[in-house]
Amino acid sequence: MDKAEAKKRIDKLRQEIDHHRYLYHVLDKEEISEGALDALKNELFKLEQAYPEFVSPNSPTQRVAGKPLDKFKKAVHKERLLSLFDAFSKDDMKDWEDRIMKVYRENTGKAEAFDYYCELKLDGLAISLTYNKGVLLRGATRGNGQVGEDVTLNVKTISSIPLTLRNLSDKDWQSLGLNSEEISEAKKIVFNLEIDIRGEAVMLKSVFESLNKEYKKQGLNVMANPRNAVAGSIRQLDPKIAAKRKMTFFVYGLAGSSTLKSILKTREIEDKFLGLLGFKTLKHNKLCSNLDEVFDLYRNLEKKRDTLSFLIDGMVVKVNDLRIWPVLGVVGKAPRYMMAYKFSAEQATTKLKAVIWQVGRTGALTPTAILEPVNVGGATVSRATLHNIDEIGRLGIKINDTIIVERAGDVIPKVVKVLSNLRIGEEKNIKIPSTCPVCHSPLIRPEGEAVLRCPNSKCGAINFQNIVHFASKGAMNIDGLGDKLIAQLLEAGLISDSADLYSLKVDDLLPLERFAKKSAENLITSISESLSRDLYRLIYALGIRQVGEESSQVLAKAFTNSKFNSQKKVVKPLELIEFFKSYSQEDWQVFEDFGPAIASSLFNFFHDKDSLAFVAKLFKYEFELILPKKTVYSQIFKDKSFVLTGSLNSLTRAEAKDRIKALGGKVVSSVSKNTDYVIAGSEPGSKYEKAKKLEVRILNETEFLNMLENK
Ligand code: IVH
Repeated sequence: MDKAEAKKRIDKLRQEIDHHRYLYHVLDKEEISEGALDALKNELFKLEQAYPEFVSPNSPTQRVAGKPLDKFKKAVHKERLLSLFDAFSKDDMKDWEDRIMKVYRENTGKAEAFDYYCELKLDGLAISLTYNKGVLLRGATRGNGQVGEDVTLNVKTISSIPLTLRNLSDKDWQSLGLNSEEISEAKKIVFNLEIDIRGEAVMLKSVFESLNKEYKKQGLNVMANPRNAVAGSIRQLDPKIAAKRKMTFFVYGLAGSSTLKSILKTREIEDKFLGLLGFKTLKHNKLCSNLDEVFDLYRNLEKKRDTLSFLIDGMVVKVNDLRIWPVLGVVGKAPRYMMAYKFSAEQATTKLKAVIWQVGRTGALTPTAILEPVNVGGATVSRATLHNIDEIGRLGIKINDTIIVERAGDVIPKVVKVLSNLRIGEEKNIKIPSTCPVCHSPLIRPEGEAVLRCPNSKCGAINFQNIVHFASKGAMNIDGLGDKLIAQLLEAGLISDSADLYSLKVDDLLPLERFAKKSAENLITSISESLSRDLYRLIYALGIRQVGEESSQVLAKAFTNSKFNSQKKVVKPLELIEFFKSYSQEDWQVFEDFGPAIASSLFNFFHDKDSLAFVAKLFKYEFELILPKKTVYSQIFKDKSFVLTGSLNSLTRAEAKDRIKALGGKVVSSVSKNTDYVIAGSEPGSKYEKAKKLEVRILNETEFLNMLENK
């Protein structure tokens, strides 16, 4: 990028950041996540560092966010509410430590290692509370740091905020390690003068979820996330509404440079003191004596993050010794003596380089975005899904666009937004293909569908995906047979479809690259083991459109129930085919949840020449499929509702569901007070917190298994 281009980019970024800042901080609206906004700010910050001649006082990098809205009385803060500098990596943290040590050395002539008090970085809304002679006088939002909004009435609806400060007993005072002079001075300040307390108002995830459920029921707009919910609730002109939106306040400090701070001496003691005065403190806060301990804590918190009952977006690392704070001072908008050590964002900005079209098992083409690699939530992302043509249209995305990608858990990253304001005129439209990229057949697009399809059932890509599906874990579960190996077998001409897998011999594999005797034998063993699987797996493996794992189980049960009494355990598959061939389109719809789409797909499959030829070829091999058990369970779970959260060691989710249903129970997706049991596996999600809150009976895996065994 040359200087002129950098200037252009800087200007565009500033406008964009300011636009989102206004939405986010002034109007409580959010078009892009904080993570994405941080990424833009970061890019701007780096460009301004590279070209300092373009730094200007009104750049977003130089300001404290937000303007107060007019609807509340203004609240002038006696002491400015500052912002925090952000760190995203160990290196950022080490640089910070080097800087503060240097400043400290230059100011005092002393070289000192610091202790750090590490706190959760709550993702809510900053609130400043003024107490006069121990009585709550005012609650205010941050606004622009100097002037906020007076939200006293709403703040008073938050039960975790004390209206009067608690009196400390002698024992309390002593537990803080203060001498008698310090105690009487502190008492005077707190109970005869005015102090400002700072903290964060948050909405618990469980409260947020149940409010949203309620709103949905009433046909009202749902709230985007707990942070927005708090911002909106604190700014309700009617405190009754605020009261209904049950919020929680966590304290994180006394205002800046009070005498009280020098009496208390450390942030750790200050935290304890604020707890004694009646504020909710964070029990996860911890004193660390060096950065390595900070890093350990960070790693633990990042893992635990989802199990907390409120949102956090990182840690705030504070120099523990409060007497050092004035020595280190404030630079611009933020203090040097603390640092926000943020968790990596789950959204980031990057550029779209190209789009490729991948042919799936059903012939559907999925556009995949090829991205400039970017770190999203700790992983490098270079591809993202664009789903289908409609999605491309909806996003209005072009090649070379700056875009936002999102990665949540294990799901495929997706493009969530195009920042079209950053365009420079060199963006190109995405070409929609007219022929299959693999077999070159003209594509079709059924009316009303957003999906382009290759209609050629012999297309190499479709065939390949069919074999991948056949061997996959949920289907025939052929251990060791993955994408790459399947491609290799096709390439070598050893197989042309899934049925050919069963004719493979060890000697066929030996000439192939990466195969030794042992590995070849292992693969042949896994393949032959798959000849005796549960019947439903084979039905699923056939890859009949619309027929997923659950429908396959329904079919396997139907077949078993109507054909056999309970003695029979295994079946030769041809019997199955004969049986299903007799079904008409209507017959198929007798099964629960089977609509016309799946019915016609099943009918077509069992009447299609090619499908039947494939099935006949497949069933020449010695399959012995296991029928589902015909056991009649006692209905011990009759009318009981269950919610599953987290993962179980001994059962898959589908198996657990099946077992519950077999015993007469039902499995629902969200927790309410009508839920009878929540089964919590390892790493349970927010449903677990909600169950605790609603006092729903929670079972761990062992308890659940015992119940299944009727113990
Ligand atoms: S200390 C100097 N401690 O983070 C101003 N802030 O990104 C920071 N925040 O506006 C005060 N948890 O609302 C502090 N444990 C914590 C915090 C915390 C969340 C918020 C705070 C601030 C924002 C800055």
